[in-house]
Amino acid sequence: MSDHATLILDGVQHELPVLEGVEGERAIDIRELRERTGHITLDPGYGNTGSCLSAITFIDGEKGILRYRGIPIEQFADAPNFVEVAWLLIFGRLPTAEQYTSFAEDLTRYANLDEGMKHHFEGFPRSAPPMAILSAMINALSCFHPELIELDDDEQFRMAAARLISKIRTIAAYAYRHSVGRPYNYPDPHLRYVPNFLHMMFSQPFDQRVCDESVRDALNLVLILHADHEQNCSTSTVRMVGSSQANLFASCAAGVCALWGPLHGGANVAVLEMLEQIHQGNITPEEYVRLAKDRDSKIRLMGFGHRVYKNFDPRAQLLGGVAERLLSGLGRPDPLLDIARRLEEIALSDPYFVDRKLYPNVDFYSGIILRAIGIPTNMFTVMFAIGRLPGWIAHWWEQRQDAAARIARPRQIYTGSPQSDYVSMAQRI
Ligand code: SDX
Repeated sequence: MSDHATLILDGVQHELPVLEGVEGERAIDIRELRERTGHITLDPGYGNTGSCLSAITFIDGEKGILRYRGIPIEQFADAPNFVEVAWLLIFGRLPTAEQYTSFAEDLTRYANLDEGMKHHFEGFPRSAPPMAILSAMINALSCFHPELIELDDDEQFRMAAARLISKIRTIAAYAYRHSVGRPYNYPDPHLRYVPNFLHMMFSQPFDQRVCDESVRDALNLVLILHADHEQNCSTSTVRMVGSSQANLFASCAAGVCALWGPLHGGANVAVLEMLEQIHQGNITPEEYVRLAKDRDSKIRLMGFGHRVYKNFDPRAQLLGGVAERLLSGLGRPDPLLDIARRLEEIALSDPYFVDRKLYPNVDFYSGIILRAIGIPTNMFTVMFAIGRLPGWIAHWWEQRQDAAARIARPRQIYTGSPQSDYVSMAQRI
């Protein structure tokens, strides 16, 4: 394979280097294109454009491969431990027993919010969207931890990462408790990451929510499967904001906003609404798929399709199994799972979806699992954010550590008015 690309512009031949990644992905390096040719490239949605070199996650969309720091995600399924995977993504290797214990202790230590933060929750309407609260309160952490705005060394970064990963649970749980008018539950220092979150979400005075092993493992795996996905929309947002040297809290708060969109993390809510609509008998699965194929309907089969996966999303395959096992173990069959399976069966035999390589993605089954655990639909995207946070932190820090990193500032092709003159108000018609 050639180590360069040849571009001929206005009769002039330019050679551009070709880079190759560890897994054979190839890129034409255009870092000097404008300087040498006066031309830029145009790629709305960046479907053909690499923004960085990264060692965190590898995806092969054609083969349905997803690896965190080289480890296939399927290998986390047997004994899912989200805290361990968070460390792997952020620090680049699996933690030793000592590192894991110390990190887990930090997460326990930092779970509380400053009492001053609680007043902010009271200021939000009870109907406030949880993602709006999550973004606002993650940003507010910089007000209560000014010492972590500038991260001068690895230890300070580690402290900031632990605080954020720990407190996102508390913020999420408090947003939920405020929305239902229930008292906040302080974190319980005797509980591990997921059981502590469920305690803060659902315990009532004198009635502590006990998390059984099947739920603990299912939610650990859901969070693991959401933990990173290379340069997706929200992670690219975190990198874009972080490229201006904005602090970790501000960058992750921006990531929450990007994730909120229904084409990205908001899809898990849209999937449940779609399944509910079919379950209530308003429309059959067959009719819904027909509408999803009709561009004029503006309806899409939510939880289907992906910019990168043109084969099965390996996360959807794992989550489908988790949903089956959890519902069976809880003895709570869910008709929405049957509807999801029916939609998948119809779509995967329909040339519209097959020709466009549209398969179930991470959002197609995740909501059914969260619903089985008792998490309300309007909190589903918040759960996605809790899972994706270690990935955002890892990418922010990887970029911050890169001496060659520059502020992100894309170019454009101008299509507006040619030069014109100012016209005074009196002369305007
Ligand atoms: C996530 O990037 C990531 O890694 C994201 C993510 C992560 O972990 O961070 O994986 C998480 O965001 C998963 C995606 C969640 N979103 C949805 O499930 C919403 C439904 N899916 C689509 O909106 C869509 O598939 C996207 C947004 C996911 C991908 O959009 P693309 O790559 O821009 O594809 P496209 O819109 O150009 O679609 C190509 C064709 C079009 O038809 P034609 O123009 O060829 O006629 O496929 C059609 C689309 O209309 N199409 C769909 C469809 N998805 C694409 N048609 C019906 N239903 C769908 N779901």
